[in-house]
Amino acid sequence: MTHPLETQRLLLRPYSLADAAFVQDLYSRADVQRYLGDGEQRVRTPEAARTKIAAWNERYLDEPVQGLWAVCLEDGTVTGSLLLKPIPDSGTKAERDIEIGWHFHPDHWGHGYATEAARVVLEHAFAAGLERVVAVTNPANKPSQAVCLRLGMTHLRLSDAYYDAACELFEITAPTARKGQSNGNES
Ligand SMILES: CC(C)(COP(=O)(O)OP(=O)(O)OC[C@H]1O[C@@H](n2cnc3c(N)ncnc32)[C@H](O)[C@@H]1OP(=O)(O)O)[C@@H](O)C(=O)NCCC(=O)NCCS
Repeated sequence: MTHPLETQRLLLRPYSLADAAFVQDLYSRADVQRYLGDGEQRVRTPEAARTKIAAWNERYLDEPVQGLWAVCLEDGTVTGSLLLKPIPDSGTKAERDIEIGWHFHPDHWGHGYATEAARVVLEHAFAAGLERVVAVTNPANKPSQAVCLRLGMTHLRLSDAYYDAACELFEITAPTARKGQSNGNES
């Protein structure tokens, strides 16, 4: 299941049906959907939002590490979503990589919340044994690329390996894997 996580300013928890109005607001916005897929996966009704939340919770029920988190302030205000899940490939790879992603409400852009929330999700992923996490962004999505770089992710290249689309590909490896690499280089 989506495992609750905390940072200095934020609480990350699974969405509940009580968040339906926020989910509808967030995912119905053109400025949020602009770089997501074809931009047409909008959530336009409360019913559609409730269906989405129920599907998310069902999907991650038996997943100890992956999840889709509602990122909340101390007072309970929901600011956006953080996700950790297998990334759909473009039919080029047998093994599925794990991606991290973020969708925040414009009211909460510019406060460092996406980076702070993503950082704790990466810590959670690496503590659970994941060795590598990727992120992809639309080439024009500079704010999302900036989140990747703030997280210490490495920009690899423009890649069409995922989502049947050309995306900027970023990766980060677990601190233990990095230590192994640097030991290898030194010896
Ligand atoms: C991508 C997205 C999450 C980036 O949001 P963001 O607010 O720019 O990113 P962060 O939450 O990390 O905030 C960083 C900004 O907060 C500022 N900030 C303000 N107070 C801060 C604090 N206390 N700590 C850290 N940063 C702070 C930073 O300086 C930075 O500002 P800058 O961009 O002017 O340099 C947001 O644009 C979004 O949700 N877009 C729509 C969905 C989307 O495209 N998702 C990505 C799909 S690949």
